[in-house]
Amino acid sequence: MAGRLITIEGLDGCGKSTLVAGLAAELESRSLPVTALREPGGVQLAERLRDLVKDPSLQVNARAEALIYAAARAQLVGEVVLPLLEEGRCVLLDRYIDSSLAYQGAGRGLGIEAVAQINDFASGGLGADCTLYLRLDAATRAERIGERGEAADRLELAGDDFFARAATAYDELAAAEPQRIHVLDAAAAPAAVLAAAIEAISELLP
Ligand SMILES: Nc1ncnc2c1ncn2[C@@H]1O[C@H](COP(=O)(O)OP(=O)(O)OP(=O)(O)O)[C@@H](O)[C@H]1O
Ligand SMILES: [Mg+2]
Repeated sequence: MAGRLITIEGLDGCGKSTLVAGLAAELESRSLPVTALREPGGVQLAERLRDLVKDPSLQVNARAEALIYAAARAQLVGEVVLPLLEEGRCVLLDRYIDSSLAYQGAGRGLGIEAVAQINDFASGGLGADCTLYLRLDAATRAERIGERGEAADRLELAGDDFFARAATAYDELAAAEPQRIHVLDAAAAPAAVLAAAIEAISELLP
């Protein structure tokens, strides 16, 4: 497989989508073939599953939630990510398996190992070549979410303890896989975050 899979991770409001847009523009300006996709979503089935899993009016228990994310991921990987990588494109994913490990594994308490297993099945074992983890303190995160002013979705309604467990899990995942997961200071200005991200992925670029 010639392409590269780069995933962007971190808690809600840390700046993932901002960085994905910046990185995509930067790679395009270097004439590198790049496609940016978000999770859950990116293809029709996964976008519909996204609406379901984020709907605050639905009851979704922790196991169902983990499986919905995994199902959305399975379709995204099979329908577009693998074909794009085979074409030699760089795929930027706004969230991937680490999000499920942190949110469902740690946040919901299903256990990292159990969630890793269903995601290994869902993704057919496709892992990221490089992961950029945007690390941000809780206060700044809350500020940014407040400024954005959107209604909270079902996941965002989970309490502070949930996000604290997810944050700890992200830190532990990064410590366990320092080769793959690059920790970026998400409190820095957008241009500085982008520069650090480009530096982190530089060895993957031609
Ligand atoms: N480095 C930064 N410094 C200051 N503000 C930022 C920075 N990056 C993003 N923001 C702002 O913070 C808010 C959240 O950013 P963004 O939507 O990119 O986060 P996200 O991680 O994609 O959130 P979500 O997980 O909810 O999709 C936005 O209003 C954005 O403009
Ligand atoms: Mg986003």
